[in-house]
Amino acid sequence: MQAATVLEANPLREGLRMARTPEPNAMVIFGATGDLTRRKLIPALYNLHASRLLPAGFSAVGVARRPWTTESFRETMRQACARHAALPVTPEVWESFARGLYFVRSDFAEREGYGRLDELLRTLDRERGTAGNRVFYLATPPDQTPAIVRLLGEAGLAQRRPGWSRLVVEKPFGQDLTSARILNSVLREVFPEDEIYRIDHYLGKETVQNILVFRFANAIFEPIWDRRYVDHVQIAVAEAVGMEGRGSYYDRTGTLRDMVQNHMMQLLSLTAMEPPVTNEANIVRNEKVKVLKALRLPGIDEVPHLTVRGQYGPGYIAGQPVPGYQQEPEVAPGSGTETYVALKLFVDNWRWADVPFYLRSGKRLTRRVSEIAVQFRRAPLKLFGAELEPPEPNILALRIQPDEGISLRFSVKLPGLQLEVRPVSMDFLYGTTFGRTPEAYERLLLDCMLGDTTLFTRNDEVEAAWEYTTRIMRGWDAAPPPEFPNYEAGTWGPDAAQRRIAADGRRWRRF
Ligand code: BG6
Repeated sequence: MQAATVLEANPLREGLRMARTPEPNAMVIFGATGDLTRRKLIPALYNLHASRLLPAGFSAVGVARRPWTTESFRETMRQACARHAALPVTPEVWESFARGLYFVRSDFAEREGYGRLDELLRTLDRERGTAGNRVFYLATPPDQTPAIVRLLGEAGLAQRRPGWSRLVVEKPFGQDLTSARILNSVLREVFPEDEIYRIDHYLGKETVQNILVFRFANAIFEPIWDRRYVDHVQIAVAEAVGMEGRGSYYDRTGTLRDMVQNHMMQLLSLTAMEPPVTNEANIVRNEKVKVLKALRLPGIDEVPHLTVRGQYGPGYIAGQPVPGYQQEPEVAPGSGTETYVALKLFVDNWRWADVPFYLRSGKRLTRRVSEIAVQFRRAPLKLFGAELEPPEPNILALRIQPDEGISLRFSVKLPGLQLEVRPVSMDFLYGTTFGRTPEAYERLLLDCMLGDTTLFTRNDEVEAAWEYTTRIMRGWDAAPPPEFPNYEAGTWGPDAAQRRIAADGRRWRRF
């Protein structure tokens, strides 16, 4: 009984409330009329407010070029929250939240706009008690980042007055290693590294944070988490969606930059890292960087043997016809951009030497599923009859989404008079055990206000991830152009990806 009551009260949310209330602050959102603000940022702030996790007087100031006013901003955000916030939008809660929403109309390149912003922020300090603490969130196209950051610096907004100033930057963080380095140096001319929050929203997902808890709060897995027991690791981030109106961005980006360089490299480093000695932000991030720095960099001519690129043609998703990539709006006809990547990589350290990590990600695959599967070596002896199939290897699968959970596959005797061995699995599901968990952006916005950088990407992490992915890009540039499209929408990707892993005597997990 007791346990059930505790669970209904949602221990995660209660825990957050007790332990963590940020100092009063104002969050400035550049790109306030865009999709990210409407779908993710303001709904996440609303959920935090409704859960009483925001400090009193918290204010969010939208900045954008469109001729909106504070009134129209509030009204548009109310509709956005009604649609996208996880918690219900009730009149009283909305009213108290909306009182902290403001809008400043300005072109991001216009100096005077920063002056007006500064004035408003000072007023909020006086009237709402935001105490000189600011978060500057850039929900803007990446090419605007350097100019905005420089102008924030020139306007004196990046300085600690009394209070702090933090910068949040969305991905993509550069286009390759060189551009990421340049961007890092621009940001660090204006903000110190510990006030720069590079967002990778995967790190805000409960199931992703749980990778470390699962590995290091349980003593039984760590001793077998290495090359002696693990045959290989598969990391999949599959999506059923296509371009969703982002054709122009995607055609310049492709899956390697959009998913592999950031989200998948984060999943990989959390899976492969050594135990940190404390859970302090830089100690954890030091261990993650070591994994990325240990990635074996393939020679340019090895790249085609270690990777498979794909692009979807027309097909069917859940029985409905969908267009091919090249027929999507804003995609160049004859485009050579990949919408699917599969690759094999190695982490050259003592723990993982020669253990392959197989990564795959793609758009318009059969269904949405993200998972990390650690496949253990087979039992050494065929004890149960030479004529029987060898028992299936044990697999520990961390399901990131959907159906968030963990499953462990092992073999048992099939009941009956004959000896037959069958794989079964033991499953833990977050939904049935804990109920609703906070959205990724709730956690990340709150951590940023709290000054906790653990779930944000440090400059050296970004650069190490780019070093590897840039090498893959160079290998592709040097190879003959791929023949696209090479997989039908609604399938699991190009046949070549199946053949490639089969050549290693392994197969992709089926979902
Ligand atoms: C974004 C990518 O970072 O992540 C998108 O730009 C992708 O292309 C999205 O669809 C996936 O996020 P999630 O949380 O739905 O797995």
